[in-house]
Amino acid sequence: MKPYTSVACLLASSVTALVLPYSTPNCSTFGSSASLRQYNATFLNATHYGPRGVNASGLLNTVSFCEVYASVAYGPYGNDSLVFAVWLPEYVQYENRFMAVGNGGMAGTIDYLNMITQLNSGLGFAVAGGNGGHLASANNGGGGAPGVYIPYLHDQAQVTAWIHDAISLFTPAAKALVNSYYGQNARYAYYDGCSTGGAQGFALAQYHPDLFDGIVASSPGNWYSHLALSFLWNAQQTNTSATNLTQPILNFTKQAVLNACDTLDGVQDQLLEDPLSCKFDINSLACNGSVPAASSSGVINCLTSTQLSAVKAIYAGPVRSDNGSQLYPGFSFGSENEWLYQEGLLSNAFSVPILQNLVFNNLQYNSNTFNWASDVGLLDARAGTLIDEISLNLTAFRSHGKMLTTQGWADQYNAATWPIEHLEQLETFFGGDVSDFYELFMVPGGGHCGGAADYASVPATYHTVPALVAWVERGFKPFSLLSTNPPDGSNRTRKLCAWPSTARYVQGNVSDWTSYVCE
Ligand SMILES: *[C@@H]1O[C@H](CO)[C@@H](O)[C@H](O)[C@H]1NC(C)=O
Ligand SMILES: *[C@@H]1O[C@H](CO)[C@@H](O)[C@H](O)[C@H]1NC(C)=O
Ligand SMILES: *[C@@H]1O[C@H](CO)[C@@H](O)[C@H](O)[C@H]1NC(C)=O
Ligand SMILES: *[C@@H]1O[C@H](CO)[C@@H](O)[C@H](O)[C@H]1NC(C)=O
Ligand SMILES: *[C@@H]1O[C@H](CO)[C@@H](O)[C@H](O)[C@H]1NC(C)=O
Ligand SMILES: *[C@@H]1O[C@H](CO)[C@@H](O)[C@H](O)[C@H]1NC(C)=O
Ligand SMILES: *[C@@H]1O[C@H](CO)[C@@H](O)[C@H](O)[C@H]1NC(C)=O
Ligand SMILES: *[C@@H]1O[C@H](CO)[C@@H](O)[C@H](O)[C@H]1NC(C)=O
Ligand SMILES: *[C@@H]1O[C@H](CO)[C@@H](O)[C@H](O)[C@H]1NC(C)=O
Ligand SMILES: *[C@@H]1O[C@H](CO)[C@@H](O)[C@H](O)[C@H]1NC(C)=O
Ligand SMILES: *[C@@H]1O[C@H](CO)[C@@H](O)[C@H](O)[C@H]1NC(C)=O
Ligand SMILES: *[C@@H]1O[C@H](CO)[C@@H](O)[C@H](O)[C@H]1NC(C)=O
Repeated sequence: MKPYTSVACLLASSVTALVLPYSTPNCSTFGSSASLRQYNATFLNATHYGPRGVNASGLLNTVSFCEVYASVAYGPYGNDSLVFAVWLPEYVQYENRFMAVGNGGMAGTIDYLNMITQLNSGLGFAVAGGNGGHLASANNGGGGAPGVYIPYLHDQAQVTAWIHDAISLFTPAAKALVNSYYGQNARYAYYDGCSTGGAQGFALAQYHPDLFDGIVASSPGNWYSHLALSFLWNAQQTNTSATNLTQPILNFTKQAVLNACDTLDGVQDQLLEDPLSCKFDINSLACNGSVPAASSSGVINCLTSTQLSAVKAIYAGPVRSDNGSQLYPGFSFGSENEWLYQEGLLSNAFSVPILQNLVFNNLQYNSNTFNWASDVGLLDARAGTLIDEISLNLTAFRSHGKMLTTQGWADQYNAATWPIEHLEQLETFFGGDVSDFYELFMVPGGGHCGGAADYASVPATYHTVPALVAWVERGFKPFSLLSTNPPDGSNRTRKLCAWPSTARYVQGNVSDWTSYVCE
């Protein structure tokens, strides 16, 4: 470790020439003195941790840091509260960069795992994360379920803080703490989030475009209200014993798709590089005549007509019952094995609680009575305005910021083509290419914010943040991203390409990302 007192060393390791104080402030006395009042924030406590001092889900911090907790008062009466933490590494490890991380699901907790990931990244971040403006006790510990009262969904300021303002509420105070600790503002500000955190990333670009220079918004639920409709739709399509798509049925369907389309990309690897290029006719799986749908030992031979209808409805996605217009995209070829959560679990955890608590304010509301025409406008008005972030006018953010999105083709939560549709909408709004500030990386065999259960050999760590930093600070627009660390523990790497380009195998080891080009 470099000595704190070597200014030359500090300058060499920093992005820009800095004049820094010679010693790290004493953590135990830091913070209480920092003026946070102008941000409606209150200092709570500060604790110093050495390396391996914090353990989030098995991940330990590699560098020492000063942790400061503070809370932000918000809401029309100033009695709502958001708690956040800022992790301040020692000067030698600090590279003049601020990083805020987002939340998952219904928030209510700080994402310490992502905070450690960013702290350990070697990019010299001071890292901040908040709880989304309410405690987990206000969202039933994240366990939304039919008939369960979810307190935060009844407080409009808390609903707004959940996604739209989750990050913006604490970022000015967190930046002030960074300034006070290092004696100057961070040179660059970044954000990283996935799922609800991806939606929070879009909220930053739309509502708070000046706060961040770079945003990673992965598997984004930024059309949250209609994502919830997609969960509800998929649940309703599979809610009887005749339409139930069991795991063996899903496996059978996925395998038939792969048998037909795996080699379209030139590599036989049980992976579709671009599911959109697969033109499989699902009707070919229909049961005919005397063949039983499943053998006595449970082997699936074909799909019954009701199962086939259910599969087609999930590929199609929700539509209005009056005029058939699309309400959210459907699922993609190759994702079939991951559909089990769609068959009620996600609807019960998100859609039904949102309808019962936020839209209809009635815990007895029966989601089977949802009217797929007239109730859509109600959902848009009562929920969409508070939880969606789909504005195409990202002009203000575009003038200075960069944004990266990743999306797994086999995401078990979110229909994979939504970010593609949204990118195309952005291109239409801006009248052409938007890759000067926005790029989407689709992940073949990728799941929700990482690996998909059925694609254990697919690298599940996407190296987005280093690519974003190089783009923001040095103008290197990423054409490809490295992905590593498959859940199966192998050393396979893959090349992710900026959509609409996809990876084409050229030569060499098929398990090495350098054997592919994006085109
Ligand atoms: C930091 O301040 C506390 C309280 O004044 C003191 O006990 C501690 O020794 C100081 N630590 C260092 C490293 O100076
Ligand atoms: C602080 O809270 C007040 C009252 O809720 C609000 O008007 C003001 O904009 C807030 N200030 C900041 C910096 O958020
Ligand atoms: C600091 O405050 C946070 C948030 O209230 C709390 O979770 C934590 O336990 C506190 N830490 C200490 C050392 O008091
Ligand atoms: C970190 O926490 C995990 C549980 O999440 C535990 O299994 C592991 O032993 C802990 N590691 C250390 C070094 O304490
Ligand atoms: C905040 O104050 C308002 C007005 O007194 C009250 O209706 C509301 O329940 C309070 N909210 C919280 C979270 O305490
Ligand atoms: C679907 O099948 C699964 C697994 O056999 C079962 O747990 C579930 O209750 C079934 N659902 C319906 C609606 O029949
Ligand atoms: C489905 O396929 C996966 C691997 O692709 C396998 O692990 C799982 O056991 C299969 N499940 C069933 C019920 O066939
Ligand atoms: C059923 O018949 C149709 C039409 O001949 C055929 O396309 C399909 O492959 C058959 N299905 C099965 C499961 O054999
Ligand atoms: C269907 O109806 C909705 C609501 O009136 C409208 O916004 C949409 O444009 C219509 N779509 C078509 C295809 O007519
Ligand atoms: C399944 O959903 C449909 C559409 O909402 C509804 O009409 C039907 O009653 C539901 N069936 C069951 C068994 O819940
Ligand atoms: C887009 O937003 C900018 C401000 O960021 C505004 O000046 C412009 O009028 C908006 N454009 C449209 C078409 O709404
Ligand atoms: C991955 O492991 C294999 C076999 O252990 C080895 O031959 C190969 O060089 C490794 N690849 C990389 C990129 O490390």
